[in-house]
Amino acid sequence: KHEMIDHARQIMRDNDRGTYTVPTQGLYPFQWNWDSALSALGFSQFDEARAWTEIDTLLAHQWDDGMVPHIIFHKPDDGYFPGPEIWGTNRPVPTTGITQPPVAGFAVARIHDRARDKALADRQARAMIPKIHAWHQWFYRARDPKGSGLVALLHPWESGRDNSVDWDDAFTRVPTEGVIPFTRRDTTHANPAHRPTDEQYKRYIWLVQKFRSLNWDNSKLHDASPFQVIDPGFNAILIRSCRDLADLAARLGMDQIAQESRDMADRGIAAMETLWNEDLGQYLCLDRITGKQIQSASIGGILAVFAPIPQDRAAAIGRRIATLAESCEYLVPSHDPTAPEFEGLRYWRGPVWLIVNFMIANGLEAAGEMQMVNRIMADCLRLIEEGGFAEYYDPITGEACGGGRFTWTAAMVIEILS
Ligand code: DGY
Repeated sequence: KHEMIDHARQIMRDNDRGTYTVPTQGLYPFQWNWDSALSALGFSQFDEARAWTEIDTLLAHQWDDGMVPHIIFHKPDDGYFPGPEIWGTNRPVPTTGITQPPVAGFAVARIHDRARDKALADRQARAMIPKIHAWHQWFYRARDPKGSGLVALLHPWESGRDNSVDWDDAFTRVPTEGVIPFTRRDTTHANPAHRPTDEQYKRYIWLVQKFRSLNWDNSKLHDASPFQVIDPGFNAILIRSCRDLADLAARLGMDQIAQESRDMADRGIAAMETLWNEDLGQYLCLDRITGKQIQSASIGGILAVFAPIPQDRAAAIGRRIATLAESCEYLVPSHDPTAPEFEGLRYWRGPVWLIVNFMIANGLEAAGEMQMVNRIMADCLRLIEEGGFAEYYDPITGEACGGGRFTWTAAMVIEILS
């Protein structure tokens, strides 16, 4: 156990660039939004000041409208595509123009909760709460313009689950005409069989070009996007962060933010019911353009348990994971292994990700589903023992996939073992 923690800390230190960490050298050479927030949990177990700095740096690049961008290009690096010149967001320090799962609210509350240096924690939390709150409000304003209580993703990269089966149908509406010729760089760092396809990359870039042509004006992007998908996992992260931020703000006497955050969380939880699918016993995505549920049994609808959903829903998700366990060796696969679209090695179309396992287990724990929590945690540690600190793993064979020496994988191991 101590050896594993030491190894994990070493990876985090090696990927530390001073005020932010890169997810892994080579493949991802900048600061990624949700990577940073989850990595801060790992740092907080052995260096609280460094944990706060990680999130502080992320929030320092928040846009004026409240959005916190998905990548911050602190320093040029031509080993990554699409770099700042493709995004063209005109920020002082270049960033992308889309966002990522807002896990920072959850992370800040958790780090504050268990902080040893209370004075530092109070000071940092007080400064961060209004910024995170503004980001949450931005979501409901810019990504839920009709006030449904659920926010839409406008780009698969926002979900963090880039090439999930969930996006396949909606993605057919995204054209490829007019996409600039480009050379991918990700496939020089990682096995192409573990990554999204060229066809998907063209559509990713089409959306970037479209949004850029609208000057990244978030009052226009939502309605102009041919891709508007409501992801239960993403919404659950937002709801959970709103709820945790509400509790934290209340503890610090920031009453108005506490009230507004709680209201957003409550509305979100009520609206999540429209995503429930009784046949599968999990939540599903909703395509906002067709108004229909997306019949894709992915981990997005299981990650929903990270939000404070009703007890019977959480118990049903526990049963759903038990069913998935019958067709794989390691929990939790990012797609149902019995579905025809399942690909055990390809990024978000099958592999297991430790960060998602951590969030699912955290939600199941709150619901008292301890047997499944223990099973998932044990699988995480088996994967590390057998495959090292990889980006993700084949749920059938345990094969390590994607990038190696991965920061948030290391952070999750520290979090699980501490
Ligand atoms: C990538 O480049 O693969 C990232 O996931 C985009 O955020």
